Amino acid sequence: MTKEYKRYLVTSALPYANGPVHIGHLAGVYIPSDIYTRYLRLRGADVISVCGSDEHGVPITIKARKEGVTPQQIVDRYHAIIKSSFERLGIAFDIYSRTSSPTHRQTASDFFRKLYDEGKFIEKSSMQYYDQEAQTFLADRYIVGSCPHCQNDRAYGDQCEKCGSTLSPDELIEPHSAVSGSVPVKRETKHWYLPLDQYETFLREWILDGHKEWKTNVYGQCKSWLDMGLQPRAVSRDLDWGIPVPVEGAEGKVLYVWFDAPIGYISATKDLTPDWQKYWCSDDTKMVHFIGKDNIVFHCIVFPSMLKAHGGYVLPDNVPANEFLNLEGDKISTSRNWAVWLHEYLDDFPGKEDVLRYVLCANAPETKDNDFTWRDFQSRNNSELVAVLGNFVNRALVLTKKYYDGEVPACGSLTEYDRQTLDELSQIRPSLERNIETYHFREALKDAMAYARIGNKYLADTEPWKLIKSDPERVKTILNIALQITADLSIAIEPFMPFTAAKIVKMLDINKLTWNDLGSASLVEAGHRIGEPELLFEKIEDDAIQRQLDKLEAARQANAAAEAAANVTEQKEAVSFDDFQRMDIRVSTVLAAEKVAKTKKLLKLTIDTGIDQRTIVSGIAEFYTPEELVGRQILVLVNLEPRQIKGITSNGMILMAQDALGRLVLLQPGDSVNAGATVG
Ligand code: MF3
Ligand code: ZN
Repeated sequence: MTKEYKRYLVTSALPYANGPVHIGHLAGVYIPSDIYTRYLRLRGADVISVCGSDEHGVPITIKARKEGVTPQQIVDRYHAIIKSSFERLGIAFDIYSRTSSPTHRQTASDFFRKLYDEGKFIEKSSMQYYDQEAQTFLADRYIVGSCPHCQNDRAYGDQCEKCGSTLSPDELIEPHSAVSGSVPVKRETKHWYLPLDQYETFLREWILDGHKEWKTNVYGQCKSWLDMGLQPRAVSRDLDWGIPVPVEGAEGKVLYVWFDAPIGYISATKDLTPDWQKYWCSDDTKMVHFIGKDNIVFHCIVFPSMLKAHGGYVLPDNVPANEFLNLEGDKISTSRNWAVWLHEYLDDFPGKEDVLRYVLCANAPETKDNDFTWRDFQSRNNSELVAVLGNFVNRALVLTKKYYDGEVPACGSLTEYDRQTLDELSQIRPSLERNIETYHFREALKDAMAYARIGNKYLADTEPWKLIKSDPERVKTILNIALQITADLSIAIEPFMPFTAAKIVKMLDINKLTWNDLGSASLVEAGHRIGEPELLFEKIEDDAIQRQLDKLEAARQANAAAEAAANVTEQKEAVSFDDFQRMDIRVSTVLAAEKVAKTKKLLKLTIDTGIDQRTIVSGIAEFYTPEELVGRQILVLVNLEPRQIKGITSNGMILMAQDALGRLVLLQPGDSVNAGATVG
């Protein structure tokens, strides 16, 4: 279904203001939406790009409770961080709003009220989990338990993050409160439901028949939701953080965050322009929702049903949801600090905004989950941005400077090879446009880079630095062509790498070009004087990469330590003092140590107990080498019955501490003391 559209409304999922933005958000949502929007702007289209912080919902109140601050303080903090880091990365929203704004509160409230007044909701009482200790109902993430599908014991009342299934609190096995840890009881409570089942026919026709061009992951998810049959969905919650339900007798109830948040797209547009209805209330607006795959159902099923129920609003033309980006082989996680945070990247790599934009687009998880690694980041920078794009532009400009004092030489007669090159170049633009317009941004980036690749090859093949002596006329043509390609690059890469595009424009000292100039014959006129060449990219060295890997390693260790602390084993049954006294523990000295043949874990130790010299076999070979042990003072249970281990008689036991991850650590006296000293 192709339709004539007059304007574009681009939305990007509103990030939760409970943490900063990381590379997964960028690759999945914000870089694609920014590329798309910048492209449309260059084309001169009437386009707006709206976003903002999603400031309601349980993750925010949980974070506030943990830190002992108010939810407002949490959202103020992260809204500021997120907004400024987007700006620094050149994500050029027309507005970055927030759902705690007065406009939004009013808009969401009115939206609910209209549906309520028109009888579009079902009002229903049901039994829901209630935490008696904290005196609160346990919605969504306030309740934790085992996932019925994958047994993950930290699944939430709305979703299991391990297997990705959507859950309701009733499905959780052994549920407990995330607030107090207590086992909840059931209590009756009243809520409003949007009867999604009544929108099934509309959704089937609109998506399954009308939008077969949607990405397969998106279309497939919609189809499976529709085939399973839709149920009424609660749009209110018993919480004290959110937009109050604007109805008599709804004290203590707020709009469900997934009801209010998408309305945030509308309120952000209102905050942007008094002309907001032009975008939202006309059929000839093309609305596109950029989101991650965990948001598909809300943007394709729930929000469109809300819009339909309300009436008068445009529906999305497409919802190009991406899959997830992993980091160094592991799932990105805010709570486990397993992420590359945008604001930290910007501080660690000043001036390298476009490198991140480039790598995340080149590696975007468009059709499957993908992995970000720092090595790949480094090699894409060094071998693609530095060696191809940077190298080509630099050569073209530096040679022009050197041979003609920066004055663009005229193009003479073309050779067959020139014609071939120009022909190859002319084929890029249609492909680039098609790829952007169909949301294939990885391919589109390859197209844009093709100008640099072809240009680089053109200079390498024609070797103007060799011809300058023998055939100076020919060099003029070569460099003229190279400069035209450079100008093309400043247009083609702008959606992807706006900082670099601006630098090229400045170095060429031309006015910023528009999309329609792309591929035109003479973008820089002969006789025009270019500006000063500077390097576009610099090599990223190993030590910069190592620092990032070290940061991640520190996070990994902190997580392991936290996990170990959380897994401490319970105290054993009480023993009598006499029982304890029967154990004869002595300070002993290790005299010799060797590996027990054909085993991984065992060491054979000869020790001096102060009473005698004896042999003990101990399972510590994975943690200590024989050399590390000789001469050490250790603690030994000397009256343990002798045991045969691998044909060796082991006479006693070395005392060691073992943590929840199975690591063994020797116990030693705090000060040196004679062998044979008793312990107790
Ligand atoms: N905050 C949600 C998330 O990060 C996205 C909200 S999108 C909106 O998953 F449409 F609801 F705004
Ligand atoms: Zn699960």
